[in-house]
Amino acid sequence: MEGKIEHVVLAYSGGLDTSVAIPWIREHYGARVTTLTVNVGQEGELGDALERARHNGAEEALFVDAREALAEEFIFPALQANCLYQGVYPLSTALARPLIARHLVRAALSTKAEAVAHGCTGKGNDQVRFDVAVQTLAPHLRVIAPVREWNMNRSDEMLYAREHGLRIHVKPESPYSVDENLWGRSVEGGVLEDPAASPPEEVFQWTGHPADWPSEPEELTVSFYEGTPQAINGRALPPVALISEMNARAGKHGVGRIDHVEDRVVGIKSRETYECPAAVALITAHQALESLVLPRDLLSFKSLVDRRFADAVYEGLWYTPLREALSAFTASTQTTVTGEVRLRFYQGSVRVTGRSSPYSLLSHELSTYGRGSTFRQDAAEGFIHLFGLAPRLAYEKRRVARSPENRAEETPAPGAVSPATPP
Ligand code: ARG
Repeated sequence: MEGKIEHVVLAYSGGLDTSVAIPWIREHYGARVTTLTVNVGQEGELGDALERARHNGAEEALFVDAREALAEEFIFPALQANCLYQGVYPLSTALARPLIARHLVRAALSTKAEAVAHGCTGKGNDQVRFDVAVQTLAPHLRVIAPVREWNMNRSDEMLYAREHGLRIHVKPESPYSVDENLWGRSVEGGVLEDPAASPPEEVFQWTGHPADWPSEPEELTVSFYEGTPQAINGRALPPVALISEMNARAGKHGVGRIDHVEDRVVGIKSRETYECPAAVALITAHQALESLVLPRDLLSFKSLVDRRFADAVYEGLWYTPLREALSAFTASTQTTVTGEVRLRFYQGSVRVTGRSSPYSLLSHELSTYGRGSTFRQDAAEGFIHLFGLAPRLAYEKRRVARSPENRAEETPAPGAVSPATPP
């Protein structure tokens, strides 16, 4: 791992941290810096990022539009696993990291850089995701994390930027740390650090203001083909456009706000605020369709896989045999997840109001309470007699064994067990 670093590829978002990182790397490592800006669907900022990277000292400023790959290779597989970390967070930030890391590695290999760099702090999950992915894909590359190494706070960084004549986007002073991509928006810091404090409205940007949420509900239909969303209201849309449209439509009604005390990989608990309108709406729809077309045992087993998949994504273990195996299992369950789900957005909530599929396992003839039922109710009694056998036996055994008057040899044989009345 030793040896001089001559050239570094820096993941450049255009924000203050990564802008300061350019001259800092040049000074501390005496290395040339190439920046790489990856479009993953973040709404703010990108504008003149490349120009600013060059102005701030980058030898070259590279740009990749990775939105389609994010949607097809990361978001949709996670959607098929209904990925929600700790049951609530759709993993928006986490899903983009391995993709950005892949592009960093590619850029480093093609420019013969010895190292890559990112702007993550030493307290979060994102450093873990970047470092693990880079180490996995290209073990010979070194990883530099300036923010983890330098001891600057925001005002130190501003001072450093001024001293070095950096061009930074001077945003109105915001205490929040924000990360955005197609699948959602994460906001941390400032008053949000107090888990008891109510998030001020200013932290929300994709879900409007409650006063502007429409007073009428909106219904729409999402069509899935083999677990992948294909159309909204019958209009086929490519992945990126579909997700963007869902963000706009669900976000307008305030759908997708998440307030979560989260357990980070590094052992810290922290309060996280998210806006993930499309993710929440699409996961809700996908789950509703699965419950119509997948058999009970598969649904139950798959929920364990879903949970494990979410943990693997959260922990930055995308490029691992475990994640690949979980993906393969998940994909094999999706062959019948085809059909339509109707969603209703209203005042911050999303509700499923209908679902249909050619693979529906719901048989009206079996489930109806009306005429024409083919379900044999007379068979239910015998089924229940056997289904209840083990609980009856266990209950009776413990009742007898625990009563001081009774001896073990007096316990009735299993065949003689009769329904017990609770003591
Ligand atoms: N806690 C989330 C995660 O680990 C989001 C991190 C977002 N980063 C940020 N700079 N706000 O996936």
